[in-house]
Amino acid sequence: MDSQQFREFGKAMVDYIANYSDTIRERKVLTSVEPGYLEKLIPGEAPQFGEKWQDVLRDVERVIMPGVTHWHSPNFHAYCPTANSFPAVVGEMLSAGIGCVGFNWEASPACTELEVMMMNWLGKLLHLPEEFLNCAGGNGGGVIQGSASESTLIALLTAKEKMVRTFKQKHPDMTENDIKGKLVAYTSDQANSSVEKAGILGSMKMRLLPADSDCILRGETLKKAIEEDRKKGLIPCYVVATLGTTGTCAFDNLEELGPICNEEDLWLHIDAAYAGSAFACPEYQHYMKGVKYATSFNFNPHKWLLVNSDCSALWVKNSKHLVDTFAVDRIYLKHKHEGVMPDYRHWQISLGRRFRALKLWFVMRIYGVEGIQKHIRTQIGLANYFEELVENDKRFEVSTKKLGLVCFRIKGKNILTEKLQQLLTERKNIYCIPCYFREKYVIRFVVCSRLTLKDDIDYAWNEICSQTAQVFEMDKNNCLEGPPAKKLKFEEDVLNNNAEIVED
Ligand SMILES: Cc1ncc(COP(=O)(O)O)c(C=O)c1O
Repeated sequence: MDSQQFREFGKAMVDYIANYSDTIRERKVLTSVEPGYLEKLIPGEAPQFGEKWQDVLRDVERVIMPGVTHWHSPNFHAYCPTANSFPAVVGEMLSAGIGCVGFNWEASPACTELEVMMMNWLGKLLHLPEEFLNCAGGNGGGVIQGSASESTLIALLTAKEKMVRTFKQKHPDMTENDIKGKLVAYTSDQANSSVEKAGILGSMKMRLLPADSDCILRGETLKKAIEEDRKKGLIPCYVVATLGTTGTCAFDNLEELGPICNEEDLWLHIDAAYAGSAFACPEYQHYMKGVKYATSFNFNPHKWLLVNSDCSALWVKNSKHLVDTFAVDRIYLKHKHEGVMPDYRHWQISLGRRFRALKLWFVMRIYGVEGIQKHIRTQIGLANYFEELVENDKRFEVSTKKLGLVCFRIKGKNILTEKLQQLLTERKNIYCIPCYFREKYVIRFVVCSRLTLKDDIDYAWNEICSQTAQVFEMDKNNCLEGPPAKKLKFEEDVLNNNAEIVED
């Protein structure tokens, strides 16, 4: 493909994306395809001879779109937002066009330096404590990672290395492996699955401590767990607090957890993957009260801050700990300006890295702080509107509401809400997912797409109301299935009063 063909193909693709976005409401949010649909639509081998770009573009609609769940449809209310905006898409395009690999400063100075600046812009936008910033004169700084999962793992590995070094100095008789085998990490049972996974990948026992009835991890719970473990001869090392849990957007109590972590010399990592974007608005910054106690802080601009995936922002107060953990030197990676600017290869798992700061730069310049705040406020405003609709209908109750997430249910037995969830998913007009809150089955309704308008909320509400009428009708006719009966392992166990429930 020469540059002239690229111009034509690229422009046609920009038109395609713009049209997709303009007409997205016409598509069902969920697909109707069955597993294996795609192999019936394209050949099993790559073409021997190059094809025309026009044919490839035509196949996007035929092959790809039938299997796309439309995450940017205003009718998508599941999980949490995944960010998308035109400035970010163009930023991605430029990043691909430059195609550099910025593993150290010399490998592409602009790639490193723009990232340093953008992480400072972003940190200031969120009003993070100065110690996290690269411009504060200390060792603080930010780096773009691929995901919140990666950030949690990187902080865990760094905390582990730091603790092993400190402990070894105090107990020179112990081997590194002895120490590593005793390390313990803590988080709440509401933390994202990625936190548990970080424990598995980093070979550190991860205790999922019980959150309170509002899904918040409290200081007392952590303190008790640490005491228990110290008595057993274990070594508490790492704590992950969540600001905005995946299920119900609960905020762990940093003002209680923070001082405990600091007194016990534990690494406190904050996972604010979704909610972090809201801190761009001063009125939501109270949710991160106690952030000053944290060792590292992470949120995903690729969730709610209009920056396409992947872009996960991680700050640490002392970047030397990252370098101590991840630095592996080779002659071919050295350069004469080492130590002046970060060599980001020492701040991450992989060696190579893309020029992701470009899309942050484009988004922050083209939206401005005001535009970003407006986006967050509009989405929270729409969630407030949805909450009001639910509250004003006596058939329903709001279980919890935080930022852009409303958890609601039909009053009464769980099966009513379970059936409603099932009908909504089958009809594919709107997409929500469920969770449990205080042992009750609830539907999570999240304002996700940046394209969502008040009319879309009305559309979703009408869909919910029409299907709720169906559910009541089914209930009246005794057509609602009960929950699947729990299977018991052995009849004789029942008789012996020793029954064990078999997991399905
Ligand atoms: C609180 C929280 N942490 C972590 C994650 C995982 O994010 P990522 O996909 O960037 O790893 C999520 C995803 O929804 C989340 O809600």
